[in-house]
Amino acid sequence: MNRFEPECPRILVVDDHPSSRMTAVALLSVEGYEVIEADSGISALESVASLSLDLILLDVMMPGMDGFEVCRRLKEDEHTRLIPVIFITALNDRRSRLRGIEAGGDDFLTKPFDQLELSARVKSLVRQKRLNEDLDHAEQVLLSIARTVESRDPNTGDHCDRLIQRGEAFGKFLKLPRPEIRNLMWGGYLHDIGKVGIPDSVLLKRGKLSNEEWETMRQHVIIGEAICRPLRTMRGVLPIIRHHHERWDGSGYPDKLVGREIPVLAQIFQIIDIYDALTSERPYKVAFTPAESLQLMQEETDKGWRNPDLMHQFAEFIRLTEIEGKSLAEAIKENDQSQNGDASTDLSETEVVQNSKVSSRVG
Ligand SMILES: [Fe+2]
Repeated sequence: MNRFEPECPRILVVDDHPSSRMTAVALLSVEGYEVIEADSGISALESVASLSLDLILLDVMMPGMDGFEVCRRLKEDEHTRLIPVIFITALNDRRSRLRGIEAGGDDFLTKPFDQLELSARVKSLVRQKRLNEDLDHAEQVLLSIARTVESRDPNTGDHCDRLIQRGEAFGKFLKLPRPEIRNLMWGGYLHDIGKVGIPDSVLLKRGKLSNEEWETMRQHVIIGEAICRPLRTMRGVLPIIRHHHERWDGSGYPDKLVGREIPVLAQIFQIIDIYDALTSERPYKVAFTPAESLQLMQEETDKGWRNPDLMHQFAEFIRLTEIEGKSLAEAIKENDQSQNGDASTDLSETEVVQNSKVSSRVG
């Protein structure tokens, strides 16, 4: 238990029968838990709203609001969804168990309680809940930092939100595995988080940056990677954060990676990022149309800056979805038909995995 956690976990026992509550309270108190009681579904929800709880032991059959409804409401609420719920059911009540699972219950116990079983399940769920909570808090902290960075830079507007939306859509268009799409979406939030370490005098400077200032600005990818590295769930996003300014011909930064050494997700993300910058209005430039933006990006690709196969895929994606206004599903179908099994432009799962290996070596 770390120093930020309360002395002992707090458990709410919800049951309309005083005798059942007393048994549970007695068993849990012996184990060193702080136990709160509620005699109905409504009073349980009131307790949850006013107290910080680590677990709820919930009777199924209660007059008024039953246990299933209480659980459903808790699991739908962002503030309470992480509190584990153990349903108390009669032995062999299969139907209640099924309904309990549907309502989002985490575990089941039967009456009369077996002390060892109760103790083991409560302990494991409380531990799990605290781990989840830490993770959630850590992710929330990252998001707040990322939002702060975005708000410091008046040029970007809703840049991150658009990157996330387009990242998801283009990821699906490329048929990336679900975890890679998730990483791409997180990349939308976190890619420039390292700008939190760049002084205002450089980040907000109007006009040209000196060589020295550019060097400072380039540090944002290193700082960002260092901020996110301790979080295990963000490991797949690190290649995007570190390598989103590399170029296909090796003229990018920070590692001057060449061609397929650049992690695929970083290549994909970079294309989305640049397209968004081109199609958005900034104080120093007008918004280009999708067709003009693709034209400019193609010119840069011809110079050797980007993966030509990927650029081709992206141009198809934009043409179908944004220029011709097709739905994503229609665009994917049409793209499948036109590719007709052409493997040369297919970014397969294998390639994504191989590139992840490259990135872990480099990053
Ligand atoms: Fe960046």
